Amino acid sequence: MSDDNGELEARLEEQEEFEPPAAFVEQANVSDSDIYDEFEENWPDCWERAASMLDWTDDYDQVLDAENPPFYEWFTGGELNASANCLDRHLEERGDQPAIEWVGEPTDEENVTLTYRDLYERVNECAAALREMGVGEDDVVTMYMPMIPQLPVAMLACARIGAPHSVVFAGFSAEALATRMNAADSEYLVTCDGYYRRGDPLDHLSKANEGLDSVEHETTTVVVDRLGDDGHGHELDDSQHDWDDLLADHEGAEIDPVDRDAEDMLFLMYTSGTTGEPKGVKHTTAGYLSWVTWTSHSVLDIKPEDTYFCSADIGWITGHSYIVYGPLSLGTTTMMYEGTPDHPDRNRLWEIIEEYEATQLYTAPTAIRSFMKWGHQYPDDHDLSSLRLLGTVGEPINPRAWKWYYQHIGDEECPVVDTWWQTETGGHMITTLPGVGKMKPGSAGPALPGLDAQIVDTNGEAVDPGRAGHLTVQKPWPGMLRTLYNNDERFVDEYWREYSDTDSEDMADWVYFPEDGAKVDDDGYITVLGRVDDVLNVSGHRLGTMEIESAIVGVEGVAEAAVVGGDHEVKGEAVYAYVIVEDGQAESDEFRDEIVTAVEDAIGPIARPEAVVFTPELPKTRSGKIMRRLLEDIANGDDIGDTSTLRNPEVVEDIKTTLDEE
Ligand code: PRX
Repeated sequence: MSDDNGELEARLEEQEEFEPPAAFVEQANVSDSDIYDEFEENWPDCWERAASMLDWTDDYDQVLDAENPPFYEWFTGGELNASANCLDRHLEERGDQPAIEWVGEPTDEENVTLTYRDLYERVNECAAALREMGVGEDDVVTMYMPMIPQLPVAMLACARIGAPHSVVFAGFSAEALATRMNAADSEYLVTCDGYYRRGDPLDHLSKANEGLDSVEHETTTVVVDRLGDDGHGHELDDSQHDWDDLLADHEGAEIDPVDRDAEDMLFLMYTSGTTGEPKGVKHTTAGYLSWVTWTSHSVLDIKPEDTYFCSADIGWITGHSYIVYGPLSLGTTTMMYEGTPDHPDRNRLWEIIEEYEATQLYTAPTAIRSFMKWGHQYPDDHDLSSLRLLGTVGEPINPRAWKWYYQHIGDEECPVVDTWWQTETGGHMITTLPGVGKMKPGSAGPALPGLDAQIVDTNGEAVDPGRAGHLTVQKPWPGMLRTLYNNDERFVDEYWREYSDTDSEDMADWVYFPEDGAKVDDDGYITVLGRVDDVLNVSGHRLGTMEIESAIVGVEGVAEAAVVGGDHEVKGEAVYAYVIVEDGQAESDEFRDEIVTAVEDAIGPIARPEAVVFTPELPKTRSGKIMRRLLEDIANGDDIGDTSTLRNPEVVEDIKTTLDEE
């Protein structure tokens, strides 16, 4: 894949197992391997260990209420506030310590340091402003913001007054914003005028306003002025407030954190599923916060004196759990970087790590594959010796990329945690504990203590080691989603029906199915193979094929479309769209552009098709089902095997020829 491959030492290339570095183990937050047995023997009370990391205003009565599976409740009767746990409790000991170190994309701009006291003050002012605007407990506040410090401020302000937030990734389109605001019945939006991307000041507010035009109810908006003189000359209307003015109006305000019931909603996060409609994943206050606090401590080894750097975007679950809530709950310094790792050049990320002496780096395999492609001369030019731990998330990492990361970024001195989890799981599920277990590149590791993950066949029976099957989680856990917003039925259908006895009231009969394929080895290490549903993983971003298809068939002149994922060197998967045009519609480059634009408008540039292939027909089974696997094989140039079960086998050659010609 890159020049570096030839340079990997033979020793590393052949090595399949790596012990955690002794110096790391010595200082690790968790280093006793008995933890696995202890948690198993003491389940579910083992989770008191996570709950005890939080400050409660009222103690809980019961660790787990499993009376009505799969609608589990955790730490019932307890009361707490997430913002108080991330801020107030740290003030006395570390009020002057940076809570957030923010680095903007332009190099000539001053970076922002918010100490715990600064952050506390901003959050209180914002909470007071939101309240005055009318935001009440349980009102959903939508945030459509890039990586600017006002985003975590707004999230924590919402948590403070008991208003769940719903953050929409800034790269999503206006239409995607409107869909999410309508689905959540959200009357409030916090957004900004724009942000920098590869040196350009992007206009974000036009997109937000366009989205608001399609929101079916009245809305009130707060707008952060990110761009200053580089802005696009927007005028705010009567329903729109300027962030700075609002906060200035409430300067010095202090708002008592609202006591939230353990099971009260902390936030909603919309994610892609098999149907066109995004799923509103509901996370609760105690279960979620205890989960991300515990895993930030045990897996990411975060300590208050660290400067921890996760390069994800807060618009995705990784940023929620492991930039905002987990790290701040532990009282550490968490970093935020606005831009891309190659702006103004490919040294940027390594410069930031060197300057801030970052202690952890948590990133995605797609980024690591880019770094490999660029070459190790960039990290080699920087002192990265402050790093103590490396992490990856979002998609499978192949052993070659793992070893490159381990060698060139970690200098063979940092454990690498390959963390498998999902928006729905709230936080880490399958990974090694870096101070305990050996690492096997390519395999995420065993399930965390207290979790029961099994690989099963279609009958739900455990498969033998080495065989591929479906990944399942056999017991509930505190960080799990509680339901899909306003849609309990879909929650049961999507995650439980496949492997559970849905008539049973016994927890043992309920099995969570994350819709990933996996295999396990003799040591219980799990290798995640990827999604088994119609969801693509493009650069670690989750996209529903149905969402993309419905955008394409909405274009006038398109008769039918099928979207699949093809292998991609850097992105992991890329979007391939096979399109049948209506009679009389030219299969022109202009029409192809129109289709690409329609996808960008409906979802965002991340869903942009790599290829749009015009075809007279789609390969279908005799019962009329589109053979997606076959389309994937064609996209990848793989052997397509037997096509005799197709109704129209001749179409396969046609499509292959068209694709070859492109
Ligand atoms: O397929 C798995 C993949 O990402 C999916 C979850 O996507 P999302 O909800 O957007 O959350 C991403 C960040 C947690 C999973 O169903 N995935 C995530 N982490 C890994 C992974 N696949 C393999 N290895 C991982 N470490």
